Amino acid sequence: MSQSKKLIKNAKVVNENQILDCDLLIHGNRIAEIGQGIIPNPDTEVFDAKGSYVIPGLIDDQVHFREPGLTHKACIETESKAALAGGITSFIEMPNTQPQTTTRIEWEAKNRRAAATSYANYAFMFGGTNDNLDEILALDSKRVPALKLFLGSSTGNMLVDNPEVLKSIFSSTNLVIAVHCEDEQTIKTNLQAAQKKYGDAIPIAEHPHIRSEEACYLSSSQAVALAKETGARLHVFHVSTAKELELFRNDIPLEEKKITAEVCTHHLWFSSEDYFEKGTHIKWNPAVKTKKDRAALWAGLNSDLLDVLATDHAPHTLEEKNQPYTNAPSGGPLVQHALPALLTAYHQGKISLEKLVQKACHNPAILFDIKDRGYVREGFFADLVVLDIDKEFEVVKKDVLYQCGWSPFEGTQFKGAVERTLLNGKWVYSNGNIHPESAAMELTFDRE
Ligand code: DOR
Repeated sequence: MSQSKKLIKNAKVVNENQILDCDLLIHGNRIAEIGQGIIPNPDTEVFDAKGSYVIPGLIDDQVHFREPGLTHKACIETESKAALAGGITSFIEMPNTQPQTTTRIEWEAKNRRAAATSYANYAFMFGGTNDNLDEILALDSKRVPALKLFLGSSTGNMLVDNPEVLKSIFSSTNLVIAVHCEDEQTIKTNLQAAQKKYGDAIPIAEHPHIRSEEACYLSSSQAVALAKETGARLHVFHVSTAKELELFRNDIPLEEKKITAEVCTHHLWFSSEDYFEKGTHIKWNPAVKTKKDRAALWAGLNSDLLDVLATDHAPHTLEEKNQPYTNAPSGGPLVQHALPALLTAYHQGKISLEKLVQKACHNPAILFDIKDRGYVREGFFADLVVLDIDKEFEVVKKDVLYQCGWSPFEGTQFKGAVERTLLNGKWVYSNGNIHPESAAMELTFDRE
């Protein structure tokens, strides 16, 4: 691949709430020195960043790469390459594959597949069901990032709806419990009402009324109440409404929080007004809500009520997505374009670069105790992204790297691009090309 000693000169490193003009010396897969005017040895490969911003590689704690069993939509190889092009160097993948990742045997098989085919650093969440507590209690917490529970059904039919089971899971695991919160009964009632009104032709604009604010709030408030009662470590995925923000706090640091929350790029970018143009291409669970919700999510992110920025990358084929509302699956591909969308939001004054790095790089590392990643620090793994902050480009189909070959951002003009990505000390992406050799590693977790 490339030399094992590297010097990145003249970088503007965004890290730990500051921006530092410096050089970065890399030995093997780790950052050896951060300093000014570092003189390279003759065997050191030098890259002059010429004043570009350099950030830690993003850690995306919520992706669906569809392997095994749904590989007509995506696979680990294609989506991890797209992630690198989008500045995401580490991903945590979800258990709603086929078979589901709800036994240690399936979890091990997924890890082996990733070891053979992933281009980005990887870890796999374990799925809770109504009857796998014995498996959950036997998990290795140094390798399993968290437990995922669907408290509302979505792609993959993984609903955990037995209150006694939920209570015993919450009471008995030390793992982070990451939850998808939407109340099933509320959704069913709303869907039936829409079917009565529209028959088979429910307009997509009804989606946020069916998967409504009430459905989200009811489910997430119940999960938060159960976590408070049992002392469980709860992480609420993809918060989509203003109302849910009242469930979270920002008066203590993340390290001390037992209940944390996350927002995804699509809920920050799109609003219910976009259904008319984008149709089922922006059908997600939870649904994209109103402009007011979107503004509240930005405020909640900036005020630290929301701790983590992630994608919920969930590809489906265009044929699947182009079906009428009730048949079109929820989800869309995002890992390649989330960071450019966020950089565009930075130019629009919605978020600072320091905050972006805190939420998408540092905080996932803190929240899941990820070992030696998520920061630009001496001794940490050299997962770095060089940005071209002022580059303007339009998302066009031919540049899309997802196996499904489409993006909900097609036609969108972004300002801010990934120029290069360094993974474990190797250049793996530069100017549109993925290096053919993988440098990926399994994520590990610093836990007792
Ligand atoms: O929109 C979604 N799609 N939300 C989920 O929770 C699952 C995901 C998928 O796997 O398609």
